Amino acid sequence: MIELTIDGQKISVQQGTTVLEAAQKNGIDIPHLCYHPELSVSGGCRLCIVEVDGRPYPYPSCGLEIQDGMDITTHSPALNAARREILDLFISEHPLDCVTCDKSGSCQLQKYAYEFGIKETSYEFEISKPLLQDDNPFFLRDHQYCILCGRCVRVCDEVIGASAIDFAGRGFTTYIATPFDAEMGDSDCVFCGSCVQVCPTAALMPVSRVGKGREWELDRTKTICGYCGVGCQVEYALNEGEIIYAQARPDSLVNGEFLCTKGRYGWDYSTNPQRLTSPMIRRDIAYDMGLTDQPWELPEKSPLTVRKPKIEDSFVPVDWDTALDLVAGKLAETVDKYGPDSVMGLASARCTNEENYLFQKFMRAGISTNNIDHCARL
Ligand code: SF4
Ligand code: SF4
Ligand code: SF4
Ligand code: FES
Repeated sequence: MIELTIDGQKISVQQGTTVLEAAQKNGIDIPHLCYHPELSVSGGCRLCIVEVDGRPYPYPSCGLEIQDGMDITTHSPALNAARREILDLFISEHPLDCVTCDKSGSCQLQKYAYEFGIKETSYEFEISKPLLQDDNPFFLRDHQYCILCGRCVRVCDEVIGASAIDFAGRGFTTYIATPFDAEMGDSDCVFCGSCVQVCPTAALMPVSRVGKGREWELDRTKTICGYCGVGCQVEYALNEGEIIYAQARPDSLVNGEFLCTKGRYGWDYSTNPQRLTSPMIRRDIAYDMGLTDQPWELPEKSPLTVRKPKIEDSFVPVDWDTALDLVAGKLAETVDKYGPDSVMGLASARCTNEENYLFQKFMRAGISTNNIDHCARL
């Protein structure tokens, strides 16, 4: 363990820790914008500068490894003046639209502008990147809000491995782009939305979120993604019961801040009016069982292809006991007639491990077949 002093507080942390991490672990907040705990250090924003006793210049704490006996100051008049200058430069090309911006309340630039009392820039204001790109169904890229922190580039490269975006251009006109400015759909983007999650400003925003309420008006529900067996933890932001967007939970041991496309954007099925809310029996079978008085003939095409506009046209809603009795009866009849290998079981990622264990046991020990598979393998 290494011992050092931060703001007069003696602390002891593991070797290899940076000053920023050591401070955070001990409840000391150092302003930062380009740093993200899951990503490599960029050192671009300089907001995290600290004074190191015995050294002539401030250092960015996100890239400064601790050393035994270091004496660090995180807040001083000189540091705060430098941070104000940095923020002043950021907003000299950033529209402070906070009154109407959907990111307001969770924006890190807004947070620091507030903390340092920056209301307007002292420089000549000019937007260097007025481009708004609305080229995919999942997220908007509004470059005027981009502060070029590079988090999106690093997450795409280091965590996702897609390397779909990078810095383009030079100097004042630098912006984040796909190769040859291709539309997102024509790039290597896999639409995981991780760049949107780690973006500290409104430069990357979920399409579903725009105009749907201020951050503090949204309710939060924590849950587990139901798509596959990984069990990623996800948090839904809701407005009056309607899901507005999903994000990963940084405190999740399973997935950290990351989700795949399905978990991040595939939640609209939950309120789809066509979602099944009870078991259903095909109408011709239901007629034979006396559950409906309307006869129906199985069309040449699968009844699943004629689901729209109303599934009730070809299926009859029933209670669980009725549905399970029918399935058990048909299963027993088929096995009796054609043998155990004439049937198969397809388990679901939406069930618990225990339920899936019981299901395979039922197929193997109960039915006597190894014909068992799982939807998450597809
Ligand atoms: S991105 Fe942040 S600082 Fe910029 S307008 Fe929106 S809330 Fe304000
Ligand atoms: S959505 Fe994922 S793959 Fe696409 S640019 Fe963002 S991080 Fe990269
Ligand atoms: S889009 Fe967001 S994450 Fe990417 S560089 Fe700009 S501000 Fe940073
Ligand atoms: S957070 Fe350290 S340089 Fe940006």
